[in-house]
Amino acid sequence: MKITQLCSHPIIQAPMAGGATTPELVAAVSNAGALGSLAGPLLTPLAIIEQAEHIRRLTDKPFAINLFVQTRPQIDYAALESAKQLLQPIWMSLGWNALPTPTRWCEDFDAQLDALLIARPAVASFTFDILHASQIQRLHDAGILVVGTATNLAEAQVWQAMGADAICLQGVEAGGHRGTFIGKQEEATLSAMALLQQVKSHSHVPLILAGGIMHGGDIAEALQAGAQMVQMGTAFLTTDEAAIHPAYKAKLLELASGNSAEGEEATMQTRAFSGRLARGVRNRFMQTMQTVAQQVPAYPIQNALTGSLRAHAAKTNDTELMSMWAGQGAHRVRKMSAAGLIATLITELQQHQST
Ligand SMILES: Cc1cc2nc3c(=O)[nH]c(=O)nc-3n(C[C@H](O)[C@H](O)[C@H](O)COP(=O)(O)O)c2cc1C
Repeated sequence: MKITQLCSHPIIQAPMAGGATTPELVAAVSNAGALGSLAGPLLTPLAIIEQAEHIRRLTDKPFAINLFVQTRPQIDYAALESAKQLLQPIWMSLGWNALPTPTRWCEDFDAQLDALLIARPAVASFTFDILHASQIQRLHDAGILVVGTATNLAEAQVWQAMGADAICLQGVEAGGHRGTFIGKQEEATLSAMALLQQVKSHSHVPLILAGGIMHGGDIAEALQAGAQMVQMGTAFLTTDEAAIHPAYKAKLLELASGNSAEGEEATMQTRAFSGRLARGVRNRFMQTMQTVAQQVPAYPIQNALTGSLRAHAAKTNDTELMSMWAGQGAHRVRKMSAAGLIATLITELQQHQST
């Protein structure tokens, strides 16, 4: 079975860690004939199993589960104190005397993978690193298709050589974290289309294009250029079923309202929130931290360290301190139900294909 045969439409709703990809969103997407994806990276193993069960109560269609491939970090407590000092302008502006030390850094990947195998989605997608051959074998033995994320040709070739069933090509326009694991994240600067042109002659597995795809016309162009499917994240953030913070959703809708002059400049990439390069809506946090962003500790340490600040921002509706991950197409979001968005995308795609 190929990934393209799992659903009627060539659209994957991107996994989006942080609450956006609710079981309701994943199921609505799959019920509408596309492939919904549950973001597992920040979920406990038990929550992965429970949310997969929840999805199955809402749909009998295939869906995907996604994980960050990561190892538990070694904590250097002296370096941690320096990292807290880099964040001082932010926590002092809130009147705090100190930044709390996190009690947890990230979930245990091996336990998450075991949970994913129990949940048995049709597709498992991975980002941040490559799996071991034995892990891919376990997924294949369970009948699960494996999708690897690549931001350059070398990564696409490694995933293919390791036996991935499809590769998600993530262009620089993409919202959220970069999946780069070979070379510097800052050097993975290819647009989705340029990446597709580089990879397609070297590939014999389906290619899924991600980054800045917002309308049916963008899907038509991606398919025309040789992609078999597209993966769309930002476009789904403003659907009714996506459970992002209401102020973050409102900010995206404001960008799309025509009252904002920022357009494609509304987002930027930063390491400052998490220690891994990620694209989101520009705000005071990013701007304040810009000069020291190269010095912050790597993911997941910085991500855990900024957790209390982001939780405070959420509680106080402060979009200047939230991580509002979104792609370069943020100013083209639309407010509708997930099923409504998919129906709209398919109508637009067909219009473009017939002209
Ligand atoms: C809010 C948000 C969270 C994301 N979280 C994840 C994630 O957990 N796992 C992952 O593989 N990709 C994640 N991504 C990246 C998407 O998989 C995809 O590459 C990206 O959304 C495509 O670009 P677009 O946002 O312009 O459509 C995230 C993207 C966004 C916008």
